[in-house]
Amino acid sequence: MVHKPQRHETMKYGGIKLYAGRSCPDLAQKIAKYLEIPLQGREVFTFPNDNIFVKLNSSVRGQDCYVIQTSTLPVHTNLMELLIMIQTLRLDSAARITAVVPYLCYSRSDKKDQPRVPITARLVADMIEVAGADRYMTLDLHAGQIQGFFSIPGDVLTTFHLLIDYAKTFINNLVDPVVASADLGFAKKARNFAEELNVPLAFVEKRRVTSNSGESQTLSLIGDTNNRDVILVDDEISTGGSIEQAVNIIKECGARDVYVIFVHPVLSLDAAQRMAALPVKQFITTDTIPIPPKKLAHFGDRIKIISVAGLLGEVIIRANEGRSVGEMFNE
Ligand code: R5P
Repeated sequence: MVHKPQRHETMKYGGIKLYAGRSCPDLAQKIAKYLEIPLQGREVFTFPNDNIFVKLNSSVRGQDCYVIQTSTLPVHTNLMELLIMIQTLRLDSAARITAVVPYLCYSRSDKKDQPRVPITARLVADMIEVAGADRYMTLDLHAGQIQGFFSIPGDVLTTFHLLIDYAKTFINNLVDPVVASADLGFAKKARNFAEELNVPLAFVEKRRVTSNSGESQTLSLIGDTNNRDVILVDDEISTGGSIEQAVNIIKECGARDVYVIFVHPVLSLDAAQRMAALPVKQFITTDTIPIPPKKLAHFGDRIKIISVAGLLGEVIIRANEGRSVGEMFNE
């Protein structure tokens, strides 16, 4: 899917200047490697009072600037750092600024689903724009409608092809495989997975039940996992509660080996430890969020991390040259 194009002779916005915050240094380096350009020098540090300082080492006047910053833990530091970097570039007269945010925080706060609650994903979109971004780029948004919270153009990309390509490398070794969606919200994407892999689909349904003793969750399985190898898919693992429950129910329903594919490894609290304790043969995820070595160690060799660097690098090249991104996906 990803291929290196010929560089065009004329570029509307000047050369690409790649900047990175402190949230995902390895991914940023890989993107720079794909683009065959260095990450630009900048100083970023936090004062003792927790305020963040940013200074660019060289001018960006008239340049096409990309700031790579994933908004994971510590969420507010990383988000604020992104906003400050964007404003720094704006004040130094960059021609165009793109916020490259592989994982967008607050994506689960996308609607007023109970009285007196905010829509924080909208607030985050507003802040990115107000800071001075002209465009944004992100991967597998929790809900597609978040695109409507931005009034600047964006490339909302998917890791679907990368994950499917990997799944295709082992699908033929599985026994009567079935794809199961760990969350009904992911059902449509799970259906695409199942179709691409040419296997049936099952759903884990979560339902909140309120009783006098409080709120609890009941689960049911729609579909057949009995005596089958199961590929469980979801967009993110945060606390791991959803996957833990899903693995338990599909195991109770007779599943053989379980594989878990998820896009964003948020892995908050002790999720890594809890996930590693599950009867899962392999976890497959991406590097939209770096997994700290201590958390990674829990998984041993049972985790496969697929890099999104080539995908983001290719889209950056195309954005700079004003070329179609859709054609990468045959759209
Ligand atoms: C839910 O809407 C999502 O698809 C995931 O199932 C959820 O974000 C995972 O969160 P946790 O790991 O905390 O259960």
